[in-house]
Amino acid sequence: MNNFSFHNPTRIEFGQGQIAQLSQLLPANARVLLLYGGGSIKRNGAYSQIIAALGKRVCHEFGGIEPNPEYETLLRAVALARQEKLDYIVAAGGGSVIDGAKFVAAAVPHQGDPWLIIGNRTPLHSALPIAAVLTLPATGSESNFAAVITRRATQDKLSFKNPRVFPQLAILDPTLTYSLPARQVGNGVVDAFVHTTEQYLTYPNDARVQDRLAEGILQTLIEIGPQTLAEPTDYAARANLMWAANQALYGMVGLGQPQDWATHAMGHELTMLFGLDHAQTLAIVLPALWRYRLASKMAKLAQYGRRVWGLSGDDAVVAVAAIEHTEAFFTQMGLPCRLSAYQLDAQTAADGVAQQLIRHQRTRLGEAQDLSPEDCRAILITAA
Ligand code: NZQ
Ligand code: ZN
Repeated sequence: MNNFSFHNPTRIEFGQGQIAQLSQLLPANARVLLLYGGGSIKRNGAYSQIIAALGKRVCHEFGGIEPNPEYETLLRAVALARQEKLDYIVAAGGGSVIDGAKFVAAAVPHQGDPWLIIGNRTPLHSALPIAAVLTLPATGSESNFAAVITRRATQDKLSFKNPRVFPQLAILDPTLTYSLPARQVGNGVVDAFVHTTEQYLTYPNDARVQDRLAEGILQTLIEIGPQTLAEPTDYAARANLMWAANQALYGMVGLGQPQDWATHAMGHELTMLFGLDHAQTLAIVLPALWRYRLASKMAKLAQYGRRVWGLSGDDAVVAVAAIEHTEAFFTQMGLPCRLSAYQLDAQTAADGVAQQLIRHQRTRLGEAQDLSPEDCRAILITAA
């Protein structure tokens, strides 16, 4: 196990009806910027509960944050917050709204070019506090310090990380997810699954608690995934999905562990170039990447196959079967593992992703930092 330091300051309020806690937990004199997306919060009851909980506090709304939140849209929210002197952000939605809120929180007090916040190219001295009301369990954004922002004009989908943008408060009410379309439920399961494997499926590092935490999250997702797709209002299944997705990127799975994240790096470029949902890209890339890296990931793939899927046999046999089980699970969740499922030509996709990775200086990916854009091109060709 490698050295690590860990501090997650987000207060989590979990369970049905917890939006009401905003009334107690936000400062009485908070001047609130309420951020949301395309309007799902107005249809599933989140909006009316938030407005009721905010009571007499000043509240200005900013809706219309897109899936894969756009830089230009977020700058308009920054302008509103500055104009109205708003000092507390309530972000209600999925990862896109919460990531957008993190950027707005950082940009409002920031002097200088806000684009430099993305990619951590400028120091942040402060940020507005954020309360996240989660409606889509997937990214873990509600209690981590990462955000992914898209700038369409320059074809950039890039992240920033800063402890100042940890949400102060995260409300996790599983009933808010009942209105999710099946596609987003499948996306959430697969995204949480791949967050876990990015931090777990590398090489043995004798971090037993972290490994078993990862395996527990993966087993939970495999158990409840089909059930929660079939019965959207099964509270226990949604509660377990919400907590599994949170824990997958809460910070503990990867402590003191080598981490991969190449699937995400390639996936972000696929989303930028071809508009696929974030998790759809992961389902395509992960199995292909595992096959390409079979030798270097063999020991961990075999451990995963035995402990998570209950397989037995030689390492090589178990590793290959574990990849096949993973593909079958993603497909069952409604996410195919081939580019052709989205009518994408593999050569075009592979060339495009390789070029973007070079442009973004992401040329040494993976746990050993030895995965080049050429390797990524080869991986995507196999995902035809
Ligand atoms: O915009 P609204 O109307 O709210 O609709 C959304 C959106 O269309 C809808 N939705 C959300 N909750 C709903 C609902 N519809 C009905 N009922 C509900 N309860 O779902 C659609 C997708 O929402 P979005 O927020 O885009 O999805 P997700 O949570 O998967 O977030 C994806 C974004 O997060 C980034 C991705 O790259 C992508 O930009 N990620 C953020 C990470 C982080 N901050 O740590 C890590 C991830 O790896 C990921 O990169
Ligand atoms: Zn992800």
